[in-house]
Amino acid sequence: MSHDYDPLAAESFDSAHADYARLREQCPVVHSDTWGGFWALMKHDDVATAATEWQTYITSQQNVVPKVAFTGRRPPLHLDPPEHTPYRRALSPLLTERRIARLEPVVRTICRDLVARMVANGGGDVCADYGAHMPVAVFAHWMNLDSDAIDALVDAGRRYNVAVQSADMDTTKETSSLLYDMAREVVADRRATPLPVDEDATSALLAVRVDGEPLPEEMIVGTIRQVLVVGLIAPSVVIGSIAVHLSRHPDLQAELRADPSLMPAAIEEFLRLYAPYRGFARTATCPVTIRERTIPAGEPIALVYASANRDADVFDEPDSFRIDRPNMKDSLAFGRGPHNCVGAALARLELRVAIEELLAAAPSFTLAGEPKPTRFPEIGALSAPIRFGVAA
Ligand code: HEM
Repeated sequence: MSHDYDPLAAESFDSAHADYARLREQCPVVHSDTWGGFWALMKHDDVATAATEWQTYITSQQNVVPKVAFTGRRPPLHLDPPEHTPYRRALSPLLTERRIARLEPVVRTICRDLVARMVANGGGDVCADYGAHMPVAVFAHWMNLDSDAIDALVDAGRRYNVAVQSADMDTTKETSSLLYDMAREVVADRRATPLPVDEDATSALLAVRVDGEPLPEEMIVGTIRQVLVVGLIAPSVVIGSIAVHLSRHPDLQAELRADPSLMPAAIEEFLRLYAPYRGFARTATCPVTIRERTIPAGEPIALVYASANRDADVFDEPDSFRIDRPNMKDSLAFGRGPHNCVGAALARLELRVAIEELLAAAPSFTLAGEPKPTRFPEIGALSAPIRFGVAA
């Protein structure tokens, strides 16, 4: 088997995208021997097809490259339909755009406080000082935690985020099991004192019946734990990547400050350009031939959403920021098919408010050092040091 690609090769913030552009041209169905061997789909059409055809491309065997298997199965991501469906149905009503809009004042207060601390210091690392704190604090509110539990979750979630992204395995394991304990505690609390099912995700999961039976306790705990983790890291990486982009484009900063109504469209385009995932995976249930390459059944296949979103066959001038793309609906930032992001409305709210508050805090900001790239399975900023200035 040929080895086309080394995901462990050194990268800069921009270099992975340059490599992926080359692979889309020369080797769009990639094989790598790394991590026990995996395939990677680079073209938009192939990624969209694999994400949609869930009967052929399943997630229950391996849902991410590299495989990180410290713990048990975590719905909804680790299950295929129909087993996946009750977990997804329980979460969806609590994550609709309308339900999530109610969180905006909380998100804004959290963002404003964090940015004020950075401004007082003249700047800071947008990932470590902002992106790693905000989503977990918002989550704690979404999960209706009391103030002690909010503080504990914010601390564990932030440490987990930093540990995963810096490949610190010991701290990752320690904080991962801490997050599991917290999920277990929330489930026990809600079992003792349920909240209304249209207000609380844990209570909604506890109320589900499949053929008259409740969902297994460990799977409910796994769901809470899954939502916690997928909801923590992606927003942090994207906020960092957007800060890098805006630091390099003071004209765009000025435009967005002058007309905040542009923000929702700008966030969609930022999500297209800086889709933070390259490692979500599927496994084919039978041999599949894509662009004349045959992938045997049973081998992991990464859907490289970050590459698909810069495919010139779908997006004109794919590396440029263009706020008025006529086909923005083709962006795969939130995936496609049964596992598409159930938290997209929350993610959009967090990103919009986070960037609005960053832009409002000072007349300008610039990079104060080289941004550091994050690693597989994410892609984007691990660190984005900025300094605030007087004029854009
Ligand atoms: C910038 C932020 C985010 C991005 C770009 C993002 C992107 C994605 C993508 C691409 C998938 C599909 C995975 C696959 O195809 O295997 C996904 C799934 C998922 N996301 Fe997000 N996500 C973000 C934030 C969030 C947040 C804040 C939550 C919190 C609720 C969340 C919850 C989930 C869950 C539970 C799944 C699994 C859904 C399922 O398997 O049915 N995500 N996300």
